[in-house]
Amino acid sequence: MRNIKGVVFDLYGTLYDVHSVAEQCEALVPGRGAEISALWRQKQLEYTWLRSLMNRYRPFEAITADALLHVCKRLSLPLVDSQRAELCDAYLQLKPFSDTAPTLRQLSALGLPIAILSNGSVHSISEVVQHSGLEAHFTHLISVERVQVFKPHGSAYELGVDILGARREDLLFVSSNAWDASGAKDFGYNVAWVNRGGTAFDELGVRPDFEISSLIEVPRFAAAQ
Ligand code: LAC
Repeated sequence: MRNIKGVVFDLYGTLYDVHSVAEQCEALVPGRGAEISALWRQKQLEYTWLRSLMNRYRPFEAITADALLHVCKRLSLPLVDSQRAELCDAYLQLKPFSDTAPTLRQLSALGLPIAILSNGSVHSISEVVQHSGLEAHFTHLISVERVQVFKPHGSAYELGVDILGARREDLLFVSSNAWDASGAKDFGYNVAWVNRGGTAFDELGVRPDFEISSLIEVPRFAAAQ
């Protein structure tokens, strides 16, 4: 691979586990934690895509709250406002995956810029990163809030290039979300798809440059210069 001048990570599902909220969901609704968490994430993603198509941007944490409200109605869950607020707060305290910290440490040692480029708002991203104590590893925390449209819109991916001041073909974009890896490849980044779930890639006419099973493999691409 050509010289990599920076690594850009997706946040939700890639560095941090969105399903760490299943624990709090389970505490509020015993026996249904995993189901709620899965539906919640799916609806949250749908709302980002739909709002981008409708040109009706709304910050990620508001969308997260809207998605949870929908799930509660759909599953007839009698959660009161304070319980829903508690679950939304949990989304600001997601746990990093076990391979996140070691990977960031190795990349930091290489001295490359390390960014997050996320659909999360500035507030959501900084809360999650600070809560995990990993903020020192990131040179840039980039939110699509600046362009008010969500990934996989090209304007969102453009932010990484603009803010890192590098060409797209000199950056490595890392995501475990196949739709996001597709969007980043379509935009022109080098892309590593972290296939955490051992699933099939999306059929959107583009393929990632690398398919890996853990973030631990990322530093070797960045080091291969
Ligand atoms: C992110 C989500 C949506 O942009 O995965 O971090």
